[in-house]
Amino acid sequence: MGRPALLVTTVIPGFDPAMLPRNFDCRTTEVGVLNNDELLSRTEGNDAVACTLVSKISAEFLQRFPRLKMVANIAVGYDNIDVTAATKYGVIVSNTPGVLDSATADLAFTLLLSIARRIPEAERYLRAGQWKSFGLDLLTGAGVFGKTIGLVGFGRIGQAMAARSLGFSMRVLYSQRNRASLETERKYGATYVSLEELLRNSDFVSVHCPLTAETRYLFNDDRLSMMKEGAFLINTARGAVVEESALIRALQTGKIAGAALDVFENEPAVSPHLLTLPNVVLVPHIGSATTETRKAMALLALSSIDKAFSGVQPENLVNPEVWTIFLKKLAADGLVRT
Ligand code: DGY
Repeated sequence: MGRPALLVTTVIPGFDPAMLPRNFDCRTTEVGVLNNDELLSRTEGNDAVACTLVSKISAEFLQRFPRLKMVANIAVGYDNIDVTAATKYGVIVSNTPGVLDSATADLAFTLLLSIARRIPEAERYLRAGQWKSFGLDLLTGAGVFGKTIGLVGFGRIGQAMAARSLGFSMRVLYSQRNRASLETERKYGATYVSLEELLRNSDFVSVHCPLTAETRYLFNDDRLSMMKEGAFLINTARGAVVEESALIRALQTGKIAGAALDVFENEPAVSPHLLTLPNVVLVPHIGSATTETRKAMALLALSSIDKAFSGVQPENLVNPEVWTIFLKKLAADGLVRT
């Protein structure tokens, strides 16, 4: 029996070599994340790749490396992978659901408080030596307690955000394609509404849906114009759910009071206009960035690879319909473990 070859395209916080699956030939990187050129030059000969959302796994990529059998995305979102093409080429794809809900919701709520209470702006003011005296009108922001939050997407992360919102006695509205169970709604005191109703009634709108063909530019001029005067938008999901140029217009005209963004349309590029606006909080895609969470994500991805190559179907495959083809490929390449 041969040993499968695995390429890990990123350093892992809290990495310990014991995290790597046993009986694999593992290639890892010493610093940062492989860029797409490095990925192209290092994928040949690998049976599996564990990568992050910066790796573009396109149809061309999959066609170029026929030996590849599995892509384990170290992320819950997988819009960087052409899953339709992976399915066509018999490549299984896994993601990391469940392990990053709390970290991401913590960051989303941090952003909500930061934009409402103008924290980065206040800190810039203080550091610039502008603070001369206490003032009743100095850097006044928006209250959060008892306000209405609208969650666009009510999966695990949306629900974790609802749990945090309850701590601030907020009214929770949510919208998504399918209504959640009554039990879930009761647990969070959440009300299912249409997206339009949510936008018209929420003081804070927080985005928690995946990026798909349907959600790309969900927040365009039209939808942003439906938001309540003085409302705030928080996005920790994917940048392209919000049309950045439309958001800039809504912020510049004062249609909405502010936005707090962890994700951007063309990461790592950030629109220069956004950088000049005072009513935004901007952070570099750090939703899941706690050492424990990033380690848990990597562990889940690596253990999914280990499982799959041991012939056990991981629960977190996003295209489980390819599983039997994957097993046949293992057999054809002499990688079946007995
Ligand atoms: C994800 O998991 O999709 C995040 O965006 C990165 O942690």
